[in-house]
Amino acid sequence: MAYDIGKEELVNLYAAETLRGFSTDFLKALGATDEEAAIITDGLMTASMWWHPGQGQGLEKFFRFYRQINNGGIVPNAPMQWVKDGPSYALLDAAKGFGYVSAHRAMARAIEKAKKTGIAMVGVRHSNHFGIAGYHALQAAKQGLIGWSLTNAKAEMAPWGSAQVVLGTNPWGIAIPRKDTHAIVLDMALTMSGKGMMRWYMNEGKAMPEDWALTPDGKRTTDPAEAMEGPLLPIGEYKGYGLSLFTDVLAGVMTGSLFGLSVFQDESNHDVGHVMIAIDPAAFLTEAEYGERLEQLVAEVKGAPAIDPKRPVILPGEIEFKRMQEREADGIPMSRETVDGLRQLAHDLNIEFPL
Ligand SMILES: NC(=O)c1ccc[n+]([C@@H]2O[C@H](COP(=O)([O-])OP(=O)(O)OC[C@H]3O[C@@H](n4cnc5c(N)ncnc54)[C@H](O)[C@@H]3O)[C@@H](O)[C@H]2O)c1
Repeated sequence: MAYDIGKEELVNLYAAETLRGFSTDFLKALGATDEEAAIITDGLMTASMWWHPGQGQGLEKFFRFYRQINNGGIVPNAPMQWVKDGPSYALLDAAKGFGYVSAHRAMARAIEKAKKTGIAMVGVRHSNHFGIAGYHALQAAKQGLIGWSLTNAKAEMAPWGSAQVVLGTNPWGIAIPRKDTHAIVLDMALTMSGKGMMRWYMNEGKAMPEDWALTPDGKRTTDPAEAMEGPLLPIGEYKGYGLSLFTDVLAGVMTGSLFGLSVFQDESNHDVGHVMIAIDPAAFLTEAEYGERLEQLVAEVKGAPAIDPKRPVILPGEIEFKRMQEREADGIPMSRETVDGLRQLAHDLNIEFPL
């Protein structure tokens, strides 16, 4: 996806430190504990620094938090409980708590177990939107383990051959640790794009790529308005549809959460499921062997000559880590519309609005 962040009249830059402070105040005013506010703020700030504001993964999420905490869909400080606990697996009932928090706890448990057994998988049921998949996978990579995180989501993708939505964008995060440098992080929805980016293109009056979404009657289009009520297209056509189905089996069917058409349909009960997997390379190799072999592979990949010399081969996650550094220094882009909405929320919650 190209990262032109768009027309100046639509977007402004804001200092990361200011957004961090506002996020913490906002979440606490909604009833989040200190621990919850810290986990969610770190996730949302990472998202704001990695992604386009149209992808809606940063502080744009506050509108949903506000609505869902008010209607009982999200419960701050929820009484989460471990319902299964085996040597290399576990299952957490998130009790309608924050998705970022349940996913964080589940990955922490997966890491702890994988360090003993080599691999562990932890499921989460009755949760909410967990944010960006790569963030949770990275939690494992920061401890030298390969992390893999999956979630189901609202039905927005049709099974291949239909125009009726049944499956979600069901993103995957995969993080591969490297010594002394950033992990390789593949963080992707299983659809080519999302409704947020389509809306962004629409507001800018731009045509979208033809492989993003279909019209409700199943036709290809480059007009985002025509496809707003239609299905998003999967990555890799029927292959992405297959991956999305598989993800819903793990995250929805197996965990005991909702799946398919029912997940996310009731605003006061999204009932999303997640899966966190941690793999310890040390189960197969010494740390040194793993590091040497991985770096050889990276060198081979990065050594492949670019078709366009201005666009060298990069690793998954490389753009996001670079963007993170730039935005930490220069500021984070947010649409004026989002900022106006946040100002209103701050007013409603009687907290200071620093933007
Ligand atoms: N929780 C949810 O329900 C939900 C749903 C959908 C998406 N999301 C999140 O939204 C975010 C955006 O997802 P997306 O699919 O739009 O991301 P994207 O398409 O912008 O990027 C996907 C991945 O491709 C990699 N990439 C991009 N260009 C590359 C290149 N030239 N070479 C190598 N790798 C390259 C990126 O580093 C990234 O890892 C993700 O964090 C995702 O987890 C969350």
